[in-house]
Amino acid sequence: MEKGTKTFMTDIKILPDYWNQGLGTDGMKKVIQHIFSNTDYRLLVVPPNESNPAAIRVYKKSGFTLTAAKRWNKNPERKHKIMELLRKDYLSI
Ligand SMILES: CC(C)(COP(=O)(O)OP(=O)(O)OC[C@H]1O[C@@H](n2cnc3c(N)ncnc32)[C@H](O)[C@@H]1OP(=O)(O)O)[C@@H](O)C(=O)NCCC(=O)NCCS
Repeated sequence: MEKGTKTFMTDIKILPDYWNQGLGTDGMKKVIQHIFSNTDYRLLVVPPNESNPAAIRVYKKSGFTLTAAKRWNKNPERKHKIMELLRKDYLSI
């Protein structure tokens, strides 16, 4: 990653009554579109817990990919993963 890339960290939360109806993915896509359309951030980062497959799935469906950082994953203190979406990759979808 380029040094000094302007980065925004975000996530999404839905009330449990509304889970598994596609709202999380739909909402996340709207968040992404809003940020990339209205700011000059070039990288979005989300930190799903490793034991939260629904969140990881929503982020994957929204275009995020897992950061391949071996040193990061080796540290047992870290229970969350890092997923990223670059503006240039979003625009090329
Ligand atoms: C994560 C969250 C936003 C997902 O919202 P949602 O509206 O249920 O998301 P969607 O319906 O768009 O998609 C859920 C996906 O996860 C999958 N999923 C749900 N539970 C799962 C499980 N236990 N294991 C594997 N996949 C699972 C669903 O099958 C679906 O994928 P699919 O469309 O390929 O079938 C919601 O669960 C939530 O608010 N959780 C609490 C807050 C949170 O953890 N936020 C993320 C913080 S990083």
